[in-house]
Amino acid sequence: MTAKFAIILAAGQGTRMKSKLYKVLHPVCGKAMVDHVLSQVEKDNVDQIVTIVGHGAEKVQETLGDRTKYALQEEQLGTGHAVLQAEKMLGSKDGMTLVTCGDTPLFMAETFAKLFEYHEKNGDVATVLTAKADDPFGYGRVIRNAVGEVEKIVEQKDATPEEAKVDEINTGVYVFDNQALFKALHQVNNDNAQGEYYLPDVIGIFQNAGKKVGAFEMDDFEESMGVNDRIALAKATKVMQRRINEKHMRNGVTIIDPDNTYIDAGVQIGADTVIEPGVQLKGKTIIGEDCVIGAHSQIRDCKIEDGVTVTASYLEESVMHKNSNIGPYSHLRPLADIGENVHIGNFVEVKKAEIGKNTKVGHLTYVGDATLGKNINVGCGTIFINYDGMNKHHTNVGDYSFIGSGANLVAPLEIEDHAYVAAGSTITNDVPAHAMGIGRGRQVNKEGYYDRYPVAEAAKKAEKADKD
Ligand code: UD1
Ligand code: CA
Repeated sequence: MTAKFAIILAAGQGTRMKSKLYKVLHPVCGKAMVDHVLSQVEKDNVDQIVTIVGHGAEKVQETLGDRTKYALQEEQLGTGHAVLQAEKMLGSKDGMTLVTCGDTPLFMAETFAKLFEYHEKNGDVATVLTAKADDPFGYGRVIRNAVGEVEKIVEQKDATPEEAKVDEINTGVYVFDNQALFKALHQVNNDNAQGEYYLPDVIGIFQNAGKKVGAFEMDDFEESMGVNDRIALAKATKVMQRRINEKHMRNGVTIIDPDNTYIDAGVQIGADTVIEPGVQLKGKTIIGEDCVIGAHSQIRDCKIEDGVTVTASYLEESVMHKNSNIGPYSHLRPLADIGENVHIGNFVEVKKAEIGKNTKVGHLTYVGDATLGKNINVGCGTIFINYDGMNKHHTNVGDYSFIGSGANLVAPLEIEDHAYVAAGSTITNDVPAHAMGIGRGRQVNKEGYYDRYPVAEAAKKAEKADKD
């Protein structure tokens, strides 16, 4: 079997992005473009992958880790010069080499595999992957001779008006005979509009030397989309989003409105879960089966077990165990652990807190730095006061306890099992099991005081109006 190698070009700055972030690191559906490229190349079982890094080399290496080898291109003198940086690692080897760019995130492993196959079958020195574009502006054009063979590739900026009319574009993906590639690269010059060493120039060099160059035209231009600016980034994101959503739907997930559902590449979802419109699922979120993720919820890096219902809520780095529910309008901040069958209602914020099974936190409550047992009822408007301005303190609430509405629980605090906190209390001391903690001022009624306030005047007017 012929050895297979791959080179990914990722050293450019990406000036047209106008960004502080290096181009190939811009995310498409939560994953860096160059990571998408590498993930697909990895599926093709190549013997060695070399990624060319330059601008932001460290960051690119941090993102891709040891899944690829790296060659450094210190100065970005063009795509041909970039490939040449892999010569030390690959130059002497027999085999065929796929070259692709870190800014074409939509290519699929199957397309690369087909290109390898086509190249090997034809025995050409190089095969360029081409596509027909409705709007070829910005891409290199594939110029064919009278008998339809690829003669050369010209860049947009170097094209004659005649050449610019050609709608067959260079996708930036090629398979080469490995040794011939590096030999030809030494003949590439930078005598062109951009003063760069162009990789596609090797095609013309091969032709001039009488070596046969092949072209493999793919029928889906969309897949070859190169991202040079934010407009293309948005277009590529749309395509990727559609692909991701279709994958989940094929796996048994109901997505009510796929055009308005935003799921990152790394998210997993179980069958029979329903995703309503406007939902964003980010990062490494895992969602089980039979869940309902209600409209406009945002979930990042969470684990959601089977049968959970999330209604218009915002969840980060948290866990929701089986059959629990939350919302509308609640917020799980990092390290919330919501037990089985727990009910979190509306306008509740939970941070770094564990809530035991069957417990209910229905309304307008803050739970921070706390451990709650099972079967507790937390009344409306309860505040776990965890911060003294300097340090965070912890509160424990035991099983079967009852926290009356409007309680302030001042941590550190221990409320034991079967304890009762009276509504409106400010609790600063521990409450033992089976006791009631009550901490509030006594009520006094002042007779006739109502009539001293302006409200009484307003009431009189309203009463009169009611009668008229
Ligand atoms: C390139 C092709 C063009 C093709 C298009 C497809 C060249 C000269 N042109 O144009 O024919 O239609 O891709 O998308 O190859 N890079 C380096 N080092 C460099 C320069 C670039 O590593 O010195 C990397 C970039 O990071 C990028 C890739 O190579 O990932 C392509 O470079 P880019 O400048 O985007 O080329 P295009 O103008 O898009
Ligand atoms: Ca490009």
